[in-house]
Amino acid sequence: MRIRSVELEMPNAAAAATFLQNPWGLIDAGTRGDTTYLRATADQAYAISVKEAAQNAMISVTFTGSTAEVKAVYARVQKSGLKHGPWIEEFDEPGRGAGFYVTGPEGEPYRFLAEKDPTAALPADNTRPLHVSHIVFNTLDRESGSKVLTDVFGFKMSDRTRLMNFLRPDNIHHAVAYADAKNVSLNHIAFEMQDTDAVMRGMGRLKDAGCASVWGPGRHGPGNNVFSYFVAPFGACIEYTSEVQRVPDDYKVGAPEDWKWPPGRGDHWGIASRDNDKLIASGDAFPYRALAV
Ligand SMILES: [Fe+2]
Repeated sequence: MRIRSVELEMPNAAAAATFLQNPWGLIDAGTRGDTTYLRATADQAYAISVKEAAQNAMISVTFTGSTAEVKAVYARVQKSGLKHGPWIEEFDEPGRGAGFYVTGPEGEPYRFLAEKDPTAALPADNTRPLHVSHIVFNTLDRESGSKVLTDVFGFKMSDRTRLMNFLRPDNIHHAVAYADAKNVSLNHIAFEMQDTDAVMRGMGRLKDAGCASVWGPGRHGPGNNVFSYFVAPFGACIEYTSEVQRVPDDYKVGAPEDWKWPPGRGDHWGIASRDNDKLIASGDAFPYRALAV
Protein backbone atom coordinates (compact mmCIF):
# COMPACT_ATOMS: atom_id res chain seq x y z
CA MET A 1 0.00 0.00 0.00
CA ARG A 2 1.29 3.48 -0.80
CA ILE A 3 0.02 7.02 -1.01
CA ARG A 4 -1.01 7.92 -4.57
CA SER A 5 -2.92 11.20 -4.81
CA VAL A 6 -4.90 13.99 -3.25
CA GLU A 7 -8.23 15.14 -4.66
CA LEU A 8 -9.37 18.75 -4.14
CA GLU A 9 -12.24 20.88 -5.35
CA MET A 10 -12.33 24.66 -5.55
CA PRO A 11 -13.51 27.67 -7.55
CA ASN A 12 -11.32 28.42 -10.56
CA ALA A 13 -9.74 24.98 -10.65
CA ALA A 14 -8.27 25.80 -14.07
CA ALA A 15 -5.97 28.42 -12.51
CA ALA A 16 -4.88 25.90 -9.86
CA ALA A 17 -4.13 23.32 -12.57
CA THR A 18 -2.00 25.87 -14.41
CA PHE A 19 -0.05 26.72 -11.24
CA LEU A 20 0.47 23.05 -10.39
CA GLN A 21 2.11 22.56 -13.80
CA ASN A 22 4.16 25.74 -13.85
CA PRO A 23 5.84 26.64 -11.55
CA TRP A 24 5.06 23.56 -9.38
CA GLY A 25 6.23 21.02 -11.98
CA LEU A 26 3.40 18.50 -12.39
CA ILE A 27 2.25 17.23 -15.78
CA ASP A 28 -1.24 17.33 -17.30
CA ALA A 29 -2.74 13.83 -17.05
CA GLY A 30 -6.06 14.67 -18.64
CA THR A 31 -9.43 16.20 -17.87
CA ARG A 32 -12.73 14.40 -17.28
CA GLY A 33 -15.76 16.63 -16.95
CA ASP A 34 -14.86 19.40 -14.52
CA THR A 35 -11.84 17.60 -13.00
CA THR A 36 -8.24 18.04 -14.14
CA TYR A 37 -5.66 15.39 -13.24
CA LEU A 38 -1.97 16.15 -12.80
CA ARG A 39 0.76 13.56 -12.51
CA ALA A 40 4.31 13.47 -11.23
CA THR A 41 7.08 11.30 -12.68
CA ALA A 42 6.48 8.13 -10.62
CA ASP A 43 4.54 5.13 -11.95
CA GLN A 44 1.18 6.38 -10.70
CA ALA A 45 -1.79 7.58 -12.76
CA TYR A 46 -1.86 11.00 -11.13
CA ALA A 47 -0.74 12.88 -8.02
CA ILE A 48 -3.41 15.52 -7.54
CA SER A 49 -6.77 16.36 -9.08
CA VAL A 50 -8.59 19.68 -9.01
CA LYS A 51 -12.34 19.81 -9.57
CA GLU A 52 -14.35 22.93 -10.27
CA ALA A 53 -16.74 23.68 -7.38
CA ALA A 54 -18.37 26.64 -5.65
CA GLN A 55 -16.23 26.26 -2.52
CA ASN A 56 -12.93 24.74 -1.48
CA ALA A 57 -12.99 21.21 -0.13
CA MET A 58 -10.70 18.24 0.22
CA ILE A 59 -12.40 15.24 -1.41
CA SER A 60 -9.87 12.56 -0.45
CA VAL A 61 -6.35 11.34 -0.04
CA THR A 62 -5.97 8.14 -2.05
CA PHE A 63 -3.88 5.08 -1.22
CA THR A 64 -3.28 2.32 -3.74
CA GLY A 65 -2.37 -1.33 -3.42
CA SER A 66 -3.16 -4.68 -4.96
CA THR A 67 -6.79 -5.74 -5.23
CA ALA A 68 -6.23 -8.20 -2.36
CA GLU A 69 -4.71 -5.49 -0.15
CA VAL A 70 -7.50 -3.02 -0.84
CA LYS A 71 -10.22 -5.64 -0.31
CA ALA A 72 -8.62 -6.63 3.02
CA VAL A 73 -8.79 -2.99 4.18
CA TYR A 74 -12.41 -2.80 2.97
CA ALA A 75 -13.32 -5.89 5.00
CA ARG A 76 -11.87 -4.33 8.16
CA VAL A 77 -13.53 -0.98 7.42
CA GLN A 78 -16.94 -2.67 7.12
CA LYS A 79 -16.54 -4.06 10.64
CA SER A 80 -15.03 -0.87 12.09
CA GLY A 81 -18.07 1.38 12.43
CA LEU A 82 -16.30 4.03 10.36
CA LYS A 83 -18.42 5.95 7.90
CA HIS A 84 -17.65 4.55 4.44
CA GLY A 85 -18.98 4.36 0.93
CA PRO A 86 -19.78 1.28 -1.15
CA TRP A 87 -17.24 -0.71 -3.15
CA ILE A 88 -16.92 1.03 -6.51
CA GLU A 89 -15.86 -1.26 -9.33
CA GLU A 90 -14.37 1.48 -11.48
CA PHE A 91 -13.64 5.13 -10.73
CA ASP A 92 -13.94 7.22 -13.88
CA GLU A 93 -10.44 8.67 -13.73
CA PRO A 94 -6.90 7.94 -14.92
CA GLY A 95 -5.87 4.51 -13.61
CA ARG A 96 -9.53 3.35 -13.42
CA GLY A 97 -9.15 2.05 -9.89
CA ALA A 98 -11.60 -0.10 -7.95
CA GLY A 99 -12.09 0.71 -4.29
CA PHE A 100 -13.94 2.81 -1.75
CA TYR A 101 -14.10 5.98 0.35
CA VAL A 102 -13.88 5.95 4.13
CA THR A 103 -13.65 8.75 6.66
CA GLY A 104 -11.61 8.87 9.83
CA PRO A 105 -13.06 9.86 13.21
CA GLU A 106 -12.88 13.59 12.46
CA GLY A 107 -14.15 13.22 8.90
CA GLU A 108 -10.70 13.02 7.34
CA PRO A 109 -11.43 11.74 3.86
CA TYR A 110 -9.58 8.62 2.78
CA ARG A 111 -9.94 6.52 -0.35
CA PHE A 112 -8.34 3.16 -1.12
CA LEU A 113 -8.17 1.69 -4.59
CA ALA A 114 -6.41 -0.83 -6.80
CA GLU A 115 -5.46 0.73 -10.12
CA LYS A 116 -6.50 -1.24 -13.22
CA ASP A 117 -4.25 0.49 -15.73
CA PRO A 118 -0.51 0.41 -15.10
CA THR A 119 1.28 3.74 -15.52
CA ALA A 120 4.85 3.93 -16.76
CA ALA A 121 7.21 6.16 -14.78
CA LEU A 122 8.65 9.16 -16.62
CA PRO A 123 12.36 10.00 -16.45
CA ALA A 124 13.17 11.76 -13.15
CA ASP A 125 13.60 15.48 -13.65
CA ASN A 126 14.94 17.95 -11.08
CA THR A 127 12.16 20.41 -11.92
CA ARG A 128 9.34 17.94 -11.28
CA PRO A 129 7.98 16.11 -8.21
CA LEU A 130 8.44 12.33 -8.08
CA HIS A 131 5.17 11.63 -6.25
CA VAL A 132 2.96 12.76 -3.39
CA SER A 133 5.02 12.16 -0.28
CA HIS A 134 2.56 12.76 2.55
CA ILE A 135 -0.32 14.74 3.82
CA VAL A 136 -0.84 16.21 7.27
CA PHE A 137 -4.20 16.64 8.96
CA ASN A 138 -4.88 19.22 11.65
CA THR A 139 -6.62 17.37 14.48
CA LEU A 140 -8.24 17.81 17.87
CA ASP A 141 -7.50 14.17 18.77
CA ARG A 142 -4.51 12.68 17.02
CA GLU A 143 -4.63 9.34 18.81
CA SER A 144 -8.12 8.48 17.53
CA GLY A 145 -7.16 9.07 13.91
CA SER A 146 -3.87 7.24 14.38
CA LYS A 147 -5.65 4.21 15.87
CA VAL A 148 -7.83 3.93 12.76
CA LEU A 149 -4.74 3.96 10.57
CA THR A 150 -2.94 1.27 12.57
CA ASP A 151 -5.89 -0.96 13.53
CA VAL A 152 -8.15 -0.67 10.48
CA PHE A 153 -5.97 0.48 7.57
CA GLY A 154 -2.92 -1.60 8.59
CA PHE A 155 -0.44 1.30 8.74
CA LYS A 156 2.44 1.50 11.22
CA MET A 157 3.24 4.27 13.68
CA SER A 158 6.69 5.76 13.00
CA ASP A 159 7.07 8.55 15.54
CA ARG A 160 5.24 10.66 18.07
CA THR A 161 6.48 14.14 18.89
CA ARG A 162 5.15 16.78 21.28
CA LEU A 163 2.72 17.94 18.57
CA MET A 164 2.40 15.26 15.88
CA ASN A 165 1.99 11.56 15.07
CA PHE A 166 3.64 10.17 11.92
CA LEU A 167 2.31 7.02 10.21
CA ARG A 168 3.24 4.92 7.19
CA PRO A 169 1.72 2.20 5.00
CA ASP A 170 5.09 1.20 3.48
CA ASN A 171 8.78 1.82 4.20
CA ILE A 172 8.67 5.61 3.78
CA HIS A 173 8.77 7.23 7.22
CA HIS A 174 5.39 8.94 6.92
CA ALA A 175 2.56 9.22 4.42
CA VAL A 176 0.08 10.66 6.92
CA ALA A 177 0.70 12.79 9.97
CA TYR A 178 -1.75 14.21 12.47
CA ALA A 179 -0.86 17.59 13.97
CA ASP A 180 -2.43 19.03 17.12
CA ALA A 181 -4.45 22.11 16.17
CA LYS A 182 -7.45 24.19 17.13
CA ASN A 183 -9.44 22.98 14.15
CA VAL A 184 -9.91 19.95 11.93
CA SER A 185 -8.61 20.51 8.39
CA LEU A 186 -5.98 19.78 5.80
CA ASN A 187 -2.64 21.09 7.07
CA HIS A 188 -0.51 20.50 3.97
CA ILE A 189 0.30 18.25 1.01
CA ALA A 190 3.95 17.31 0.36
CA PHE A 191 5.55 16.29 -2.92
CA GLU A 192 8.88 14.48 -2.92
CA MET A 193 11.58 15.89 -5.19
CA GLN A 194 14.48 13.80 -6.43
CA ASP A 195 17.06 15.48 -4.22
CA THR A 196 17.76 18.51 -2.11
CA ASP A 197 19.12 20.43 -5.08
CA ALA A 198 15.71 20.02 -6.71
CA VAL A 199 14.02 21.44 -3.60
CA MET A 200 16.33 24.47 -3.68
CA ARG A 201 15.81 25.00 -7.40
CA GLY A 202 12.09 24.72 -6.78
CA MET A 203 12.28 27.41 -4.13
CA GLY A 204 13.86 29.72 -6.68
CA ARG A 205 11.29 28.86 -9.35
CA LEU A 206 8.42 29.52 -6.92
CA LYS A 207 10.01 32.76 -5.74
CA ASP A 208 10.34 33.94 -9.35
CA ALA A 209 6.63 33.16 -9.80
CA GLY A 210 5.68 35.36 -6.84
CA CYS A 211 5.11 32.46 -4.43
CA ALA A 212 8.11 32.57 -2.12
CA SER A 213 8.55 29.91 0.54
CA VAL A 214 6.72 30.56 3.84
CA TRP A 215 8.85 28.08 5.80
CA GLY A 216 12.18 26.65 4.76
CA PRO A 217 14.55 25.42 3.74
CA GLY A 218 15.16 23.08 6.62
CA ARG A 219 15.51 19.46 7.65
CA HIS A 220 12.89 17.92 9.93
CA GLY A 221 13.60 15.67 12.88
CA PRO A 222 11.13 12.78 12.34
CA GLY A 223 11.63 11.48 8.78
CA ASN A 224 14.88 13.49 8.47
CA ASN A 225 13.42 15.08 5.32
CA VAL A 226 14.39 18.37 3.73
CA PHE A 227 11.43 20.74 3.50
CA SER A 228 10.20 23.99 2.03
CA TYR A 229 6.56 25.07 2.36
CA PHE A 230 4.51 27.37 0.13
CA VAL A 231 0.97 28.71 0.18
CA ALA A 232 -0.37 28.09 -3.32
CA PRO A 233 -2.51 30.78 -4.97
CA PHE A 234 -5.51 28.48 -4.50
CA GLY A 235 -4.98 28.60 -0.74
CA ALA A 236 -3.54 25.20 0.21
CA CYS A 237 -0.18 24.76 1.87
CA ILE A 238 2.06 22.60 -0.31
CA GLU A 239 5.57 21.35 0.37
CA TYR A 240 8.59 20.27 -1.58
CA THR A 241 10.46 17.61 0.35
CA SER A 242 13.42 15.32 -0.33
CA GLU A 243 15.53 12.60 1.27
CA VAL A 244 12.55 11.30 3.25
CA GLN A 245 13.84 8.51 5.49
CA ARG A 246 13.12 4.94 4.41
CA VAL A 247 12.65 2.79 7.50
CA PRO A 248 12.75 -0.95 8.27
CA ASP A 249 9.64 -2.86 9.39
CA ASP A 250 10.96 -2.96 12.95
CA TYR A 251 11.68 0.79 13.13
CA LYS A 252 11.47 1.75 16.79
CA VAL A 253 8.52 4.09 17.38
CA GLY A 254 9.93 7.38 18.61
CA ALA A 255 8.42 9.25 21.56
CA PRO A 256 8.25 13.00 22.30
CA GLU A 257 11.36 12.81 24.49
CA ASP A 258 13.31 11.50 21.46
CA TRP A 259 12.51 14.66 19.49
CA LYS A 260 13.55 17.57 21.66
CA TRP A 261 15.24 20.59 20.10
CA PRO A 262 17.59 23.07 21.73
CA PRO A 263 15.97 26.44 22.60
CA GLY A 264 15.12 28.46 19.49
CA ARG A 265 15.57 25.52 17.15
CA GLY A 266 12.81 23.64 15.31
CA ASP A 267 14.74 21.73 12.67
CA HIS A 268 18.25 20.38 12.10
CA TRP A 269 19.60 23.30 10.07
CA GLY A 270 18.21 26.27 11.97
CA ILE A 271 18.19 28.65 9.00
CA ALA A 272 14.53 28.53 7.97
CA SER A 273 12.39 31.63 8.25
CA ARG A 274 8.74 30.93 8.99
CA ASP A 275 5.59 32.97 8.29
CA ASN A 276 3.31 31.49 10.93
CA ASP A 277 0.30 33.65 10.05
CA LYS A 278 0.27 32.46 6.44
CA LEU A 279 0.86 28.86 7.47
CA ILE A 280 -1.99 28.87 10.00
CA ALA A 281 -4.37 30.64 7.60
CA SER A 282 -3.70 28.01 4.95
CA GLY A 283 -4.90 25.38 7.43
CA ASP A 284 -8.45 26.72 7.16
CA ALA A 285 -8.45 26.76 3.36
CA PHE A 286 -9.64 23.20 2.66
CA PRO A 287 -12.29 21.69 4.94
CA TYR A 288 -13.18 18.05 4.30
CA ARG A 289 -16.03 17.31 1.93
CA ALA A 290 -18.61 15.18 3.72
CA LEU A 291 -18.93 11.65 2.43
CA ALA A 292 -22.31 11.00 0.88
CA VAL A 293 -23.39 7.47 1.85
FE1 LIG B 1 5.38 17.82 5.52
